[in-house]
Amino acid sequence: FERGLLTGRHVLINAGPTREAIDPVRYISNHSSGKMGFALAEAAAEAGARVTLVAGPVSQPTPARVERVDVISAVEMLAACESALPADVFIASAAVADYRPASCAPGKLKKDPGSDDGMTLHMVRNPDILATLANHAQRPGLCVGFAAETDDVLGYASDKLTRKNLDLIIANDVSQPGIGFNADENAVTLIDRSLAPQPLAQASKQKLARQIIAVVAARLTNPS
Ligand code: C5P
Repeated sequence: FERGLLTGRHVLINAGPTREAIDPVRYISNHSSGKMGFALAEAAAEAGARVTLVAGPVSQPTPARVERVDVISAVEMLAACESALPADVFIASAAVADYRPASCAPGKLKKDPGSDDGMTLHMVRNPDILATLANHAQRPGLCVGFAAETDDVLGYASDKLTRKNLDLIIANDVSQPGIGFNADENAVTLIDRSLAPQPLAQASKQKLARQIIAVVAARLTNPS
């Protein structure tokens, strides 16, 4: 892992979950510690890049020499990512909520004391941050996504690669215990446009982040 690999490059990374407000006290969110994205930001900074890390609500310390922008919702995360352009690389590690409540109630929603009925929440689609940046007028030269899947991991991941117009997708099998969500270790497979899968063995998220950043740097110097 060479320290000057990404000198002069701007790497944009998003991480963590998004939180979609239902009312002033409630929200819908995803499981995500942000560990993988923060490890990537740290590795990119160590490799000499200028790093912008757009973070959802997580409790991770900001890595050294990383510019962190905190956001809550998917809409805010998209705006912060677009504001950070231009970038040479975009790595989308955030667990973005696919839907948000159509509106946030101005006051705390109350239970109906006279009824045991359930309640229906109307949700609308959130923007796809990765697909938006990968099809942007200021598209980063290298757009990298994550695909957390439970079955047919490589099939769904390569489908996402083409559908979202990505250069690289990092697939991980979240049905396996001990890796993925909230865990300290991960095991991933990198898939590029040639659809040749490159597995990276189970390791700490820090070690995998350095391997991923080395692959990203190699592609910037030698696009294929
Ligand atoms: O389609 P799916 O959510 O599985 O795709 C995962 C990839 O897309 C991740 O890189 C994630 O950060 C990104 N994504 C996004 N905006 C969304 C949903 C997913 O950027 N609304």
